Amino acid sequence: MQFLENFKPELIVESPGRINLIGEHTDYNMGYVLPTAIAKKIIFKLQKNGSDTHCNIYTLGYDQGFEIDLNTIAKSKIEWQNYILGVLNEISKRTAKLRGFDCTIESNLPTGSGLSSSAALECGLAFGLNELFGLGLSKIEMVELSQIAEHTYAGTQCGIMDQYASVMSEAGHVILLDCRSLERGMIPIDLQPYKIILLNTKVSHNLATSEYNVRKAECEQGISIIQKKYPEVQSLRDVDQEMLTECKAEMNETIRRRCTFIIAENQRVLKMAKALEANNLEQVGKLLYEAHEGISKDYEVSCKESDFLVDFSKSNPQVLGARQTGGGFGGCTLNIVAENAVEGFVTAAAIAYKKAFDIDLEWFEVSPSQGTTARWL
Ligand code: GLA
Repeated sequence: MQFLENFKPELIVESPGRINLIGEHTDYNMGYVLPTAIAKKIIFKLQKNGSDTHCNIYTLGYDQGFEIDLNTIAKSKIEWQNYILGVLNEISKRTAKLRGFDCTIESNLPTGSGLSSSAALECGLAFGLNELFGLGLSKIEMVELSQIAEHTYAGTQCGIMDQYASVMSEAGHVILLDCRSLERGMIPIDLQPYKIILLNTKVSHNLATSEYNVRKAECEQGISIIQKKYPEVQSLRDVDQEMLTECKAEMNETIRRRCTFIIAENQRVLKMAKALEANNLEQVGKLLYEAHEGISKDYEVSCKESDFLVDFSKSNPQVLGARQTGGGFGGCTLNIVAENAVEGFVTAAAIAYKKAFDIDLEWFEVSPSQGTTARWL
C-alpha cells in the first residue's frame, strides 16, 4: 500500500492474547473467570495521516491491506477486517475526535487457537487510537466497546473475558473476574517447579460460525425454565445444582447438561482461586481435568483432537492437569507440566498426535503477562 512508503509511526501498541486458567463459557452466564494475558501478541504501529476521515490499515502477516473512510464504515466480507471496522464504528459512536490514521499490524499470536487473537485485535486498535488522538476513553470503555464490536461486526455473542484479560492483566497474576459486577481480584500465580505449556491442536475455529452462539442460546433456554420456579434468577450464576435438579423434569437432556456444566464450572473457578492461594498444585491439576471432562461431555465444545491431547497428558505423571482453553472446538490445550519433564512430554505428545491425526503439533510455554501497553516513538 502506498502509505507504507512514507510511514513514520508515532506510536506502538502491544496487545496480548490470553489464556484462561479455568471458567469457560461462564462469562456470558455472569459468572467467574480466571484468565491472564500471555506474551504472544499483536503489535500495532500508528501515525496520524493529516486527513479527517481517511484510514489505511495493513497487516504484514497476510500482506493485505484496506482503506476506510470514517464516514462510511460498514461490514466487510473479509473476516479479519470486521474486527477493525467494528471497533471504528463503536469509537465513532462515542467521540467525534477520531481522525484519519495509518496503521500496520504484526502478530505472533496464532489465530483461531483459543488465545483471543480477535480480542487482541479489537482492543489493541482501540487502545492505540485512544492514545493517538487523546480520545479520553477509559480502559473499561475500550474493553466494552471491543466486546460490542465482536457482537455486531464479527458475529460472536461473546462475554467480556477476552477483552478484559487482554487489556487489564498484570504480569505474574491471574484475574479473578466477576463478570456480573466486574469486580476483580489479582491473584499471584507461582507454579514452580511447573510450567504452563500450550499444545496447539491446529484445529482452528471461527466462533462466529461455530456452535458458540448456540451454547449461549441453550443457557438462556435453561434460565427461562428455571425462572418459572425461581423468578428472581437472572442468569445461571444464580443457580445451584439443587435448584437445577428441581427443574430437571421441565427441560430436555441437552439443556440440563449445559446448565450442569456452567454451575459446576463456576464453582471450579472459586475452588481454583483458593487452590492457587494455598499453592495446592495437585488440586489445580485435578480441577483442570474435571473442567475438561465437563467441556467435552456436558457442554460439548471440545473436539477429538483436544480430547486426545488431554487424555495423552494423563499417562504422564509429571503433568498435573490439562484442559482445552478458550471458546472451544479446537485451539490449544493448557498443561501444567514439571519443568524437567517438558521436553519429554511435548516430544512424546507430538509423535502420538502426528500418528493419530497426521498433524504437526505446535507447542509453547506461556506465563501470566502484562495487558495492553502503548509507547510513543
Ligand atoms: C470465547 C469468548 C469468551 C468466552 C470464551 C469461553 O473466547 O470470546 O467471551 O465465552 O470463549 O470461555
